[in-house]
Amino acid sequence: MFLDFGQLAAKDRYKLLTATVVPRPIALVSTRNEDGSTNAAPFSFFNVFSEDPPLVVLGLQSKPDSSPKDTTRNIRLTGEFVVNLVDEEIAEKMVICAADFPKDESEIPAANLTLAKSRNIDVDYIVDAPVSLECRRVTVLQFAKTRDLAVGEIVGFHAREGLIDPDTLRINWDKYNPIGRLYADQYIHTHDRFSMSIPAYEDAANGEYSEIIGDR
Ligand SMILES: Cc1cc2nc3c(=O)[nH]c(=O)nc-3n(C[C@H](O)[C@H](O)[C@H](O)COP(=O)(O)O)c2cc1C
Repeated sequence: MFLDFGQLAAKDRYKLLTATVVPRPIALVSTRNEDGSTNAAPFSFFNVFSEDPPLVVLGLQSKPDSSPKDTTRNIRLTGEFVVNLVDEEIAEKMVICAADFPKDESEIPAANLTLAKSRNIDVDYIVDAPVSLECRRVTVLQFAKTRDLAVGEIVGFHAREGLIDPDTLRINWDKYNPIGRLYADQYIHTHDRFSMSIPAYEDAANGEYSEIIGDR
């Protein structure tokens, strides 16, 4: 089956891409509203792009009336945002934040989330999240009237106590259970892990590979 992508309606491209490019990590993005309150909304057109410089990217659609989402407006106005990662513990709270709250009404109390002051930026982070990345806007590119791509540089990293070994900086995987987005209202756990090491060229060239360790 081949689909000439340019010929498809945008809604069909969305359907295909969000159901095949999976799972996607979820950023529960906090930003500062004009009145100083904190806005929070999830974004799964999201990923980390590099570590040097340390960059994250967010794909921001507009609201159905073509006006920018509160997150987009706030990032444009303040130049700062926090990416709070989403695990099983805060999954339901994250979904509450996706509801269409009026402009300048914070999702935080309704979702029963707790905020704390960031160290390097003036936007609060969500303490309940396993990991929070303080970000400064590098650029917001507008690809269409209703489509922005925000690029942010990570200037601070918070992790829940016990999640990361302070000496080795290794993650304690028994305590880290991020969820991923599949499509529409479908999500996935990350318990089913396995390892696969990259073979040396000599082995790879002969088609030899190391065995998969763990469940499949
Ligand atoms: C798991 C999940 C992922 C989402 N990903 C995106 C996304 O990548 N881009 C987007 O524009 N909206 C996305 N949304 C929808 C926004 O979260 C939603 O429109 C929200 O109300 C925007 O809030 P705001 O106006 O406060 O920024 C997602 C919703 C959910 C539940």
